[in-house]
Amino acid sequence: MVKTMTQTKLNFETAPGHQLLAAAGKKVLRPGGRIATEQLFQWANFQPGETVLELASSFGDSAIALAQRYNLRVVGIEKNSDSIARARANVAAAGLSDRIQMIEDDIFHLDRLSEQFDYVLAEAILTMQSPSGKAKILASIHDRLKPGGKFLSHELAAQNREAEIHRALAEVIRVNATPLSETNWIAACETAGLTVQHHHTSAMNLLNPQQMLRDEGAIGTARIFWNVLTQPPLRKRVLAMRRVFQKYQQDLGYIVLCTIAH
Ligand SMILES: C[S@@+](CC[C@H](N)C(=O)[O-])C[C@H]1O[C@@H](n2cnc3c(N)ncnc32)[C@H](O)[C@@H]1O
Repeated sequence: MVKTMTQTKLNFETAPGHQLLAAAGKKVLRPGGRIATEQLFQWANFQPGETVLELASSFGDSAIALAQRYNLRVVGIEKNSDSIARARANVAAAGLSDRIQMIEDDIFHLDRLSEQFDYVLAEAILTMQSPSGKAKILASIHDRLKPGGKFLSHELAAQNREAEIHRALAEVIRVNATPLSETNWIAACETAGLTVQHHHTSAMNLLNPQQMLRDEGAIGTARIFWNVLTQPPLRKRVLAMRRVFQKYQQDLGYIVLCTIAH
């Protein structure tokens, strides 16, 4: 066991994959990394002063980029109290507390928000929900968007062997990771009243050194390697995840979608 920044104990045997990777020092916890997020930002065509609701905002990485680069106002929802504390510290350090609000809450309760937004951004969060959970969250995303507002989504996609991949991921990541095929992600969005304007799928290289360098930089990557190499229980879990990602690399990728609420 180790202690995370705010002293919550993390059990390496049972912790969900994203918490392990965060404990190893990884900041970008989404399957397509920063390149995929950039693709969403380009499609969005943000205008200064617009508003974004970010689901599962983790350490505030994307929220800070949105406020800094596009002069947007961002509300982030995140249920992990350690991540919220770190996100708030990052936001304050960036001098953006007037434009970014981090709320500690569950994305299953978006109805507690009264505001409607120009955009909802959700990266690496819908995949880990059941079919009914995905449908519920997508419907409430639709409700939180202004008419014509855009939902920007970044998730795991499985082109074939969906059930087998689900079982393998659930075992190593220890969350109910259920990637959908491209067709099924599009259908899930359309069912919630979100018309797909753009989408793109590509290979999933979250734990490959090249993507790690792009996402975390040289120093961040070196720190992650050091942490993984020197902590055997962490290494065991990270390598198990990597083996599953490699085993299914032909079928397992990421998808980004830009949809419009109608
Ligand atoms: C795989 S990480 C992705 C984090 C971030 N969006 C990114 O792309 O780097 C999933 C995040 O969702 C958060 N999370 C999981 N379930 C949640 C829920 N029901 N409500 C709010 N946040 C949740 C976790 O605490 C974690 O920070």
